[in-house]
Amino acid sequence: MNTLDFNIVLIGFMGSGKSTISRALNERFAMDVIEMDQVIADREGMSISEIFEVHGEEYFRNLETELLRELQNRKGVVISCGGGVPMRDENVVEMKKNGKVILLTASPETILDRVKNNHDRPLLENNKNVGFISDLMEKRRSKYEAAADIIIKTDGKSAFQICEEIISLAKET
Ligand code: S3P
Repeated sequence: MNTLDFNIVLIGFMGSGKSTISRALNERFAMDVIEMDQVIADREGMSISEIFEVHGEEYFRNLETELLRELQNRKGVVISCGGGVPMRDENVVEMKKNGKVILLTASPETILDRVKNNHDRPLLENNKNVGFISDLMEKRRSKYEAAADIIIKTDGKSAFQICEEIISLAKET
């Protein structure tokens, strides 16, 4: 594939498949991937849970906004956003400067199954149940949908299938 002249920005709830799909896009189309959580954790020398614990959520949210701004000098890359990034309108403005925003969705049951063994998501740590996940998802839905250029349901689809869908829709959108 020729290098895209825009970024693919993946958004969605925790466990919606952003990291898995980023890796698949990297394998399938050799696109560079920026995993925002990973960059932030590496720079801070702490896990996401530790950043929340030591500095608080607001500090983490500010790091997200700064990183997103910094990433606007990249092109043709995949930016995998943490699940909370589209909650700030200023972040959505940044994403849209150079990127097509792809919202990945999954049912609360699928999300629970994907996150249940992970311990680096402070918002879910003591809330791993369908009720909490669907409530938070509902609270976030309008921001997610408003930010998205393309919405892709991931339930029951292979990573390969989702990648093909993303690239063909992104090229024509
Ligand atoms: C968060 C999602 C996480 C991480 C942090 C907060 C959120 O990223 O940024 O725990 O507010 O939804 P993932 O969506 O990659 O799990």
